[in-house]
Order: sequence, then C-alpha cells, then structure tokens
Amino acid sequence: MNVLVIGCGAIGTAITRALQYNEKIKKIYLVDNKPEYIQALSEKFPKAKKADFPDVLSDVKLVIECASQKAVEQYVPVVLEHGVDVLILSIGALADDEFRERIFGIAENKGARIYIPSGAIAGVDAISAVKGAGIYEITLETRKPPSAFEDSVLAEKGLSKDSIVEPVVLFEGFAREAVKKFPKNINVAATLSLAGMGFDKTRVRIIVDPKISTNIHHIFVKGDFGEMVLETRNKPFPHNPKTSYLAALSAISAVKKIIDAVWIGV
Ligand SMILES: NC(=O)c1ccc[n+]([C@@H]2O[C@H](COP(=O)([O-])OP(=O)(O)OC[C@H]3O[C@@H](n4cnc5c(N)ncnc54)[C@H](O)[C@@H]3O)[C@@H](O)[C@H]2O)c1
Repeated sequence: MNVLVIGCGAIGTAITRALQYNEKIKKIYLVDNKPEYIQALSEKFPKAKKADFPDVLSDVKLVIECASQKAVEQYVPVVLEHGVDVLILSIGALADDEFRERIFGIAENKGARIYIPSGAIAGVDAISAVKGAGIYEITLETRKPPSAFEDSVLAEKGLSKDSIVEPVVLFEGFAREAVKKFPKNINVAATLSLAGMGFDKTRVRIIVDPKISTNIHHIFVKGDFGEMVLETRNKPFPHNPKTSYLAALSAISAVKKIIDAVWIGV
C-alpha cells in the first residue's frame, strides 16, 4: 500500500519512521510547504519521496494529514473528491460546521472514509459507545506547561513564559470557542466534541501550569451509563512541546488498524 503524508513536522516524522519499517507500506509520498522538511525525511527514509499533489492521489490508498487546520481545508476536500481515504490529525478544522458537513458529504458520495484518531487522549472508543445512551456532561481540563503555549496566547492574559509561577486558568467555556482561541493546542476538545456532545455542550478548561512537564488531559463524562474519568499525562515532543508523543503513537496505531486484518479496540 502507498500513502501520502501531509506535514513533515513532529507527528509527520514519527509516522514516516513507523511506515518505513512497516513491510505492508511500499511508498510514502510527502507534502509540506517547507521543502527542506521533505528533503530531510526523504534522505533519512528510503521509501519516502516528494509528492506532486494532486497527481499523487491516483497512486495512494490513504492520506495522513498531520500539518495544520489550514492544510485540512486546502487538501482534504480534494483528497475525498478523488475517493481516497484520509486520516485527519488537525481536528480543530472540523469545528467549522459548514466545512465539516461539506467534507462528510463528499466522503459519503465518493465512498471514501475520514478517520479521526483518538490523538492525545484515551477513551474516545468508550465515549463513542455511550453517546447513544444519553450523556449529560463532558468536561475536559487541559493542563500544560508554559512552553506548550504561543507567546501571543499568554500575552492576552498579561503573561509571559517566565512570569508564570503558579497555575493560571487561560480559558473556561465551551469547545466551540476553545478550538478557535487555541487552534494549535486544542485538537483534543474537537475530538471529544465530535465523539460526544458536540462543540456547544463540551466544557473546556485550559490551564498553564509552570509546575508540570507533561501535557495533562483530564476528562469527566457523566451519563445514563454511569461516570468515566479519563486522564493522560503525555510527554511532549522535545522539538514541538505543543504536541504530545501519544498523538503520534495514536496516528501510527490508526494506520496499522486500517492496514491490518485484525482490529483491537474498535
Ligand atoms: N489530534 C490530536 O490529538 C493532535 C495532537 C497533537 C497535534 N495535533 C495536530 O497535528 C498537526 C501536526 O502537529 P505537529 O506537532 O506535527 O506540527 P509541526 O508544526 O511539528 O508540523 C507541521 C508541519 O506541517 C507543515 N504544514 C503546515 N501547514 C501546511 C500546509 N498548509 N501545507 C503544507 N504543509 C503544511 C509545516 O510546515 C510543518 O512541517 C497540527 O495541526 C496539530 O495541531 C493533533
């Protein structure tokens, strides 16, 4: 099977490495708006090479988007129009109802699939399972060290990375607003919203905490089924502290599920 990876940053590199050593993968095509990133990966991994988009779509079975919300808007509709399946990491892009419904519609009409991995959290399978049985509350508390936030986001609260000595709540509200205010940080809120109660009912609290070195996502779910408490304490990527290692591992595992005959934890 041949795949196209859009985005050769922290997650794209981890995925390309995993695909290089997967014997079912023959070719890995790469897209990035920074040619030096493509070159670095194709020099390191023999199966990987630069793609010509959209021509490449006739030679791939799966596209993996791990670039940005903008890249989702730019590439995903074209991928689906060609009937090719796509795994999306920049889930925040799907908070735009019109865009989401448009691409879901294209996928339906073209017989293509959109895969949304669990990313940096655990329990998306369980939340999807209880969705039909009635959920009353989903609350996400995301707690990250200062290095995980853009300077501009901290500046809005009158903060800088060095000035924070105690945990500070940066945001409290619903997922719809959170994904707009923290597009580089809050894919988890978008994934939860899609799996559970939607963007207008999923509660989100974002905290910058100078006393931690991991990205912590604490999720509380209450419904007819009972209650769920889910927590991940993720190590960030050293060269991109906004991204958790688990997000890359989740995407790699999703690709394996798509390729392999046996699927554990559907
Ligand atoms: N679903 C989740 O739980 C989850 C978790 C972490 C990160 N993410 C998302 O995954 C994506 C990748 O994360 P990362 O840490 O690897 O980011 P990164 O910044 O390390 O790498 C992104 C790469 O994509 C490229 N890129 C960005 N926009 C592009 C475009 N329009 N066209 C072509 N190339 C483009 C950049 O040049 C860069 O090389 C981000 O959008 C991030 O928010 C999702």
